[in-house]
Amino acid sequence: MPLSIALATDKLPEKGSLIITATDGGKLGVLGKQLDKKIGGAISKAMKIKKFKGKPASMFALLAPAKSDLDRIVVLGVGDGKKLSASDAEKMGGTALGAVEQAEGNVTFLIEPLGGNLADGEIAARAAIGAFLRDYKFENYKTKNKSTGGPKKFTVATKALAGAKKAHAELKAVADGTIVARNLVNEPSNILTPPEFAKRAKALSKLGVKVEVLSEAQMKKLGMGSLLGVGQGSVQPSQMVVMQWNGAPTGKGKSKQPVAFIGKGVCFDTGGISIKPAGGMEDMRGDMGGAAAVTGLMHALASRKAKANVVGVIGLVENMPDGNAQRPGDIVTSMSGQTIEVLNTDAEGRLVLADALWYTQKRFKPKFMIDLATLTGAILVALGQDYAGMFASDDTLAQQLTEVGEAEGEKVWRMPMNDNFDKMINTPNADMKNIGGRYAGSSTAAQFLKRFTNDVPWVHLDIAGTAMGSPKSTTSRTWASGYGVRLLDRLVKAHYEK
Ligand code: BES
Ligand code: MN
Ligand code: ZN
Repeated sequence: MPLSIALATDKLPEKGSLIITATDGGKLGVLGKQLDKKIGGAISKAMKIKKFKGKPASMFALLAPAKSDLDRIVVLGVGDGKKLSASDAEKMGGTALGAVEQAEGNVTFLIEPLGGNLADGEIAARAAIGAFLRDYKFENYKTKNKSTGGPKKFTVATKALAGAKKAHAELKAVADGTIVARNLVNEPSNILTPPEFAKRAKALSKLGVKVEVLSEAQMKKLGMGSLLGVGQGSVQPSQMVVMQWNGAPTGKGKSKQPVAFIGKGVCFDTGGISIKPAGGMEDMRGDMGGAAAVTGLMHALASRKAKANVVGVIGLVENMPDGNAQRPGDIVTSMSGQTIEVLNTDAEGRLVLADALWYTQKRFKPKFMIDLATLTGAILVALGQDYAGMFASDDTLAQQLTEVGEAEGEKVWRMPMNDNFDKMINTPNADMKNIGGRYAGSSTAAQFLKRFTNDVPWVHLDIAGTAMGSPKSTTSRTWASGYGVRLLDRLVKAHYEK
């Protein structure tokens, strides 16, 4: 059962477990001091013994404190409350929930006014979101030994309740979008086939998103030989899903031009005939992390009724070896008319995106296109799991993404593109080949994609390191992080809403 999370006005509870905040130097707030007095100064004594300085995420607990009916009091350091950022506040909420994993019953997390750059209401709302994201588990397929125990209810108490409620409504929409993405990425590939993924995307129509699903026959008619070649070895039909959220105000002089997000949705990537080694191949169930992020983003935007026109396009395929699978050396014709020599069937993500990007810019003439893809192992080697690799043809968009990424805690790091990388994908036999050389694998992959963007401002995010296999963090305890939803929601909110 997911934890029930609530917001309430600041008050010291009589029962259950209580978490209070202490800022730099171990300073308690008004209510914290009141409590300390009531229980005979046990909190300040403990602080002295522990040399507790209120550093972020430092904490201690008093169990069954005398002169009180509380089960426990946890004192949680928050550092310099004035400098707390949005992502710090979320981490604080995740850390607070982590501190009471052993608790049963009700937990109150009392956040005293911090008087910082971030309004107290937003701090409380973000803390609740952090706890919500941390609480997520993927246990649908466990019939026994599911995690039980832990608190039943987690209440964030704040003086700024009205502000917290208002901020929470929007943030919850985005957090729900992150959960949508996590669920899709965690789902095994025998369940989440391309048609099943399309069906789940269709469910967004309940939120007012217009959803179309293109069949193989329709894609064939459009000339998407690049995408279809990848799926041709699978018994699962390939699909392309087009999602539209039209939330921008209409009227004279108002532009309807949408922004567009495109996702790689390889529901399983065996490598195809250029088959991958067995060890770790199960990770390729998450090779649709880009498509999951786009779907989660559309969920978030529609749930919070974003005042923007946004298109989401995802290419869904399964890359399998088979008698009918594509072979190394095959030459396919993409929707753009450009031909591609497929020298390695495991470099399939770019083949899917080539047609998805071309289709998107042809049909929607968007202001910009941002694609997300678990595209290369090389990006993990270069950047690890904290940063997505960013490749951009547009400096403004790159700058905006860098900034919102830092603020939201979903970071990007810009990587190079240039004509030399571009030359590396030339081949005597066709317009291009689908692999570069031994070096700069993530950059040559990006150059390949760029050839299908037709000068629309474009950014490619290689999320192979950030979308899955994620290390446990304060706000994520699961294999799939849901990376990208928060980043892109914030980009839209900060720069592309009217
Ligand atoms: N889906 C993989 C990339 C990947 C690797 C994602 C590890 C997440 C973790 C992609 O389709 C792939 O196989 N890329 C190849 C490209 C190569 C054949 C040029 C790679 O990175 O090895
Ligand atoms: Mn591959
Ligand atoms: Zn792949």
